[in-house]
Amino acid sequence: MNNLQLGLFITGAVIAGILLGIWFYSINQRRKRRAEQSKSNELPTTLSSKSVPASSTNISRNNPSHPYPNSDLQKGSTYFGAHVFSYEELEEATNNFDPSKEIGKGGFGKVYYGKLHDGRVVAVKRLHENNMKRVEQFMNEVEILSKIRHQNLVALYGCTSQRSQELILVYEYVSNGTVADHLHGNRSKSGLLTWPVRLSIAIESAEALAYLHVSDVIHRDVKTNNILLDENFQVKVADFGLSRLFPTDVTHVSTAPQGTPGYVDPEYFQCYQLTQKSDVYSFGVVLMELISSLPAVDMNRHRQDINLVNMAVNKTQNNALHELVDPLLGFEKDYTVKKMTTSVAELAFRCLEKERDMRPSMDEVLEILRGIQNGNEEMGAQKAEVVDIKAADDVRLLKNIPPPLSSDSVVTDKWVNSPTTPHSS
Ligand SMILES: *[C@@H]1O[C@H](CO)[C@@H](O)[C@H](O)[C@H]1NC(C)=O
Ligand SMILES: *[C@@H]1O[C@H](CO)[C@@H](O)[C@H](O)[C@H]1NC(C)=O
Ligand SMILES: *[C@@H]1O[C@H](CO)[C@@H](O)[C@H](O)[C@H]1NC(C)=O
Ligand SMILES: *[C@@H]1O[C@H](CO)[C@@H](O)[C@H](O)[C@H]1NC(C)=O
Repeated sequence: MNNLQLGLFITGAVIAGILLGIWFYSINQRRKRRAEQSKSNELPTTLSSKSVPASSTNISRNNPSHPYPNSDLQKGSTYFGAHVFSYEELEEATNNFDPSKEIGKGGFGKVYYGKLHDGRVVAVKRLHENNMKRVEQFMNEVEILSKIRHQNLVALYGCTSQRSQELILVYEYVSNGTVADHLHGNRSKSGLLTWPVRLSIAIESAEALAYLHVSDVIHRDVKTNNILLDENFQVKVADFGLSRLFPTDVTHVSTAPQGTPGYVDPEYFQCYQLTQKSDVYSFGVVLMELISSLPAVDMNRHRQDINLVNMAVNKTQNNALHELVDPLLGFEKDYTVKKMTTSVAELAFRCLEKERDMRPSMDEVLEILRGIQNGNEEMGAQKAEVVDIKAADDVRLLKNIPPPLSSDSVVTDKWVNSPTTPHSS
């Protein structure tokens, strides 16, 4: 009897085990299948929580002429989700590429102001020099750009077809010029860029760059000329990733160097590679421009000051930040402005570290800028302090600051928090 009971019990247990195993297996399979299904929709949603997921965007609602495809292939009038314009349509929109409608110029070609049939006002970027390699890169670029959407990135409306006689990108038109125009260009007289406006420009630009980095895109040419402003002074970062069209080809001598003088990551000259931290460096230069209203490079300045970074470093070493800050911002009169510009200068110095690893990420930069805007600098300061502890015993270093660009990060961090920081006395 006992043996029979034991036998029944064991058989039961084995059967129960097998059933349980089958059950777990089927649940696992179902989960796997579901994961695979969602993976195919994943890309647009992982780009950013803030962005509109491309797959759920009902673009046709806003732009009847701009249907959004589910397919990734060229199909009808879309390519990788970007609307395909006919060459004739763009010719008409720009009045045959009328030179008087030219609004910009770059290594890739020219940008024209245009108006489409449906009334949309656009910036039309025309690439010259077509060859098969460029065509491939162009289409690759369109694929990336059409998946990227953020309120602080200029929107790509479409492009011409691969078979068109010319490669053209069509962007939303942004009306209020560039940050460079307003800081030191032909709109600088307007005096519209007060300190709060500049800080919000810095924050929105940082948001755009942080988003690009999350999306595995490196801008590679961050500068005030590429930060556009709309009629509400909202930031639209432009030219993102376009330089991917022209990757550094060491054997090709005519290839222009990456980036723009005055903004280029000094480490680029050692390894000929640009990373996300290169964007951080360039953004540090942008911050310096926002503080000083001076261009990144100015041949009319004194020899050592031609480069804004050198100039800012020198002024800071000589406890002369007040000579760097744009007098119109009220640095001497307004304590809040003084505190905030000083904090932003400190952040800029961290971005300008010669060694990439010492620079903060774009996410950190954004967090610190928001802290400064909220009058809550401790956020940034605490972070720097952690780095500082190593050398916290040597405040005297400050009296002999070597150039921060000599990669001595501790010293610049020291400067950040030191009681002897310029103007704190
Ligand atoms: C998109 O907008 C069109 C036109 O308003 C509408 O008919 C359609 O149902 C919308 N589709 C989705 C997915 O919202
Ligand atoms: C600034 O100059 C550019 C050309 O360099 C021109 O297109 C633009 O209209 C000018 N803006 C103002 C406000 O004068
Ligand atoms: C530029 O922005 C300012 C401030 O928002 C606004 O007053 C002005 O009308 C804008 N100009 C253009 C051309 O959009
Ligand atoms: C710093 O600026 C002063 C003048 O303001 C100049 O005499 C000095 O040579 C500069 N030093 C460096 C290292 O650029």
